Amino acid sequence: MRVAMIGTGYVGLVSGACFSNFGHHVVCVDKDAEKIERLKKGDIPIFEPGLNRLVADNAASGRLSFSTDLTSAVPDAEAVFIAVGTPSRRGDGFADLSYVYDAASEIADSLKSYTVVITKSTVPVGTSNKVEQIIRQRQPGAEFDVASNPEFLREGSAIEDFQRPDRIVVGADTDRARNVLRALYRPLFLNDKTPFVFTSRESSELIKYASNAFLAMKITFINEMADLCEKSGADIQDVSRGIGLDGRIGSKFLNAGPGYGGSCFPKDTLALVRLAEEYGAPSRLIESVVDVNDNRKKRMAEKIISAFGGVKGKTVAVLGVTFKPNTDDMRDSPSLDIIPALQAAGAIIRAFDPEGMVEAGKMLQGVVWAKNTFEAVSKADGVVILTEWNEFRALDFTLLKSLLKRALLVDLRNIYNPRDMVEAGFEYHSVGRSSVKP
Ligand code: UDX
Repeated sequence: MRVAMIGTGYVGLVSGACFSNFGHHVVCVDKDAEKIERLKKGDIPIFEPGLNRLVADNAASGRLSFSTDLTSAVPDAEAVFIAVGTPSRRGDGFADLSYVYDAASEIADSLKSYTVVITKSTVPVGTSNKVEQIIRQRQPGAEFDVASNPEFLREGSAIEDFQRPDRIVVGADTDRARNVLRALYRPLFLNDKTPFVFTSRESSELIKYASNAFLAMKITFINEMADLCEKSGADIQDVSRGIGLDGRIGSKFLNAGPGYGGSCFPKDTLALVRLAEEYGAPSRLIESVVDVNDNRKKRMAEKIISAFGGVKGKTVAVLGVTFKPNTDDMRDSPSLDIIPALQAAGAIIRAFDPEGMVEAGKMLQGVVWAKNTFEAVSKADGVVILTEWNEFRALDFTLLKSLLKRALLVDLRNIYNPRDMVEAGFEYHSVGRSSVKP
């Protein structure tokens, strides 16, 4: 099948590469000429494990190509995906759909024979209808269907998520469109293990927002329980395990931490709040989730300051700045709130992140960037773990202690065991557990 993927951001690039790996012929289109030139040379603009290889292999096989020219990619394609950005609109938090509508207009002008236009971007309920109207108005005679097929990829494990998804959601109104989607996902459809949810376009669009909002709510819930644990002497790790083993609750997304960040949860929870308001069915629950999570990031800085006994003039070594491991993405990372708050309280920040420092350097001022963990901690007054990269999970504590001025660790991802830290001679503060001293 011939596919055009409009937008080579995170979702577009990963999906395009994965569809070509399923055997389809995919042209990934973007307006950013510099990005397309880089991609043609095999230079991948984002860090995502396995993506380099996947792009290189499929480009070499001739199934994956890159272009700035939508008008040459669309006429041949049986399926055209819209995978452009839907950022939060400045000022009101609504999803900004201008890129989606621009893409729809350009696609309309290039349609030749029956095509399914599929919104893969995260879009509010009703957007596929609007896309259909735009195309219909611009080319009344065009033969096409519009479908919704949201993406549930997690950064850092996006390829695995694409190839082994929990489910595929398709919102489509005609059998013809559904059959094109079936053919696109044929390898998953054939093995019978992946459930397919065929539904209306409106339901499909809402499933995406509802999924992200539910997960954000789950994280926010466990974060609040962690606060209660700290006050009451309970242990959040045991509480998470104890509730997660109930099959109705499930153990995933119950890790307490500094608050959720990233390119999706903050933007999508806010967009859902606005959408619900607009439809006259406000979501008090998700409004609270947004509020609690925003405040949490700020409070984490206070937690660190208190553990250090004030940070004025002190050097704080920060390990990890990205919103999660295995990505260089800094969007809405808790570090963007925590580090400036520490600086405002007088701290000198020396930080290291395995992949995120180039991006972080553009967003954080006055940080001394270290080449590795040990350079970051050298002569620091304590260490803070903000992101749970694997290389921070097995630190050499004897060496660490010898380099630090004070053996103090604030672990906002609970990757260490308090008992082990006491044995290693560290004062240890974590989330939802009692602080310990040697
Ligand atoms: C998320 C969704 O999981 C994915 O389905 C959707 O398509 C895009 O948004 P992503 O943003 O890549 O994916 O990361 P995810 O692993 O979901 O983590 C999001 C945030 O929640 C991170 O800041 C992470 O640190 C935090 N988190 C996650 C927790 O604090 N605790 C958890 O238990 C899980």
